Formats: sequence, C-alpha cells, structure tokens
Amino acid sequence: MDPTTPEGQAAPPPVLISERQIAERVEHLGREISADYAGVDELLLVGVLRGAFIFLADLARRLTLPTSIDFMALSHYEHGSTPSGAVRLVMDLRVPITGRHVLLVEDIVDSGETLAYLKRTLEARRPASLKICTLTRKPDRLTADVRVDYVGFDIPDAWVVGYGLDFDNKFRSLPYIGVLEPAPDGG
Ligand code: IMP
Ligand code: MG
Repeated sequence: MDPTTPEGQAAPPPVLISERQIAERVEHLGREISADYAGVDELLLVGVLRGAFIFLADLARRLTLPTSIDFMALSHYEHGSTPSGAVRLVMDLRVPITGRHVLLVEDIVDSGETLAYLKRTLEARRPASLKICTLTRKPDRLTADVRVDYVGFDIPDAWVVGYGLDFDNKFRSLPYIGVLEPAPDGG
C-alpha cells in the first residue's frame, strides 16, 4: 500500500482545486493585496501553523511591497476530525505588533471559531490595521461572525487536504487541494 494514503484509501485524493488554479489565484491575490497596501512602509504577514505554511510561502513571493513574516501556532481541542471550537495558543509571535500593519494568513475557515479567536487575540495588541487572508473558506459551515478580507476559494462542505491542509497531519505536501473520500468522522 502507498504509505502516503491512509488505510482504505487506495488512490490519492481527487482534485478539487488544481495546482494551476491555485497558482493563478495566489498571483491574483498577491496583486490585489499589493495594490491595497500601496504606500504602506511594511506589512507583517502572520502565518498560522501548520496549515498556512505553503500558502504563505507562495503568497509572500507574489507581494511587491516590503514584508516581514512571523508565525503563530494553535492547537484545537478535537474529537476525531471535528474541532470543538476551543483553541489554545501553543506558539505566540516573536515580535510585537502594536502600530504595525498585520495580515493574518490562514489555510481554511470552517466554523470561523479559530479566526474569531485569532482576531480577538491580535486586536487586543492594537495593530495599526489587521486584515485576514484565507486560502479556503467553507461558507456553508460558517457560524462565527468574522469578516474575511481576502478569500482564495469558497469550497463545498467536504474535508480537503493538500497544499498545507492535512488530515491527521498527513497529505500536507500534496501540490493540489484534494477531497478526502470517504469524509473523516464528523468532518
Ligand atoms: P474553524 O472551524 O474555522 O475554527 O476551523 C478549525 C480548524 O479545523 C482549521 O483551522 C483547520 O485546521 C481545520 N479544518 C477545518 N476544515 C478542514 C478541512 O477541510 N481540511 C483540513 N483542515 C480543516
Ligand atoms: Mg488552521
């Protein structure tokens, strides 16, 4: 059996969003964000580990303004693949953000609870501005009241993997975004 696929899943996850579609969208987002922040001294990109690492790496290289980069890591209290909504900060930023322009870069917005938590946490530190960019969003699952400024793709309610996204910490290095079939429990 292919060691990259879980038991019962013989084939790689079917493609939902291809490498090429991702590249085109990231390039477009890069142009849009660069234009929106034109004239800003520096933009601090805050990546949320681990899922956003590939998206952040590609997006950062498409921005034409001065940037710096930092990361946060969170842990979800999960039941199987279903996050309970409770989030814990396991690694904080290394730099203060007061008075700085911050763009939070996320891999996926599902219920939106994670984002709501991150927004509260970062806003309390009084950045000059705080905007949110997510690679994917599941509009049908959104319950939290959070506005997202930049969305790569709105996707159906399925468990997606690849391009940083995981199931059980696997599949992150797939170059495309695929759908895990059958859907994991409760996902
Ligand atoms: P939230 O429900 O918006 O708080 O999302 C919680 C977390 O669940 C996300 O940050 C991801 O880590 C994870 N997640 C939700 N849906 C998916 C998916 O389809 N694939 C991979 N991870 C997901
Ligand atoms: Mg995440």
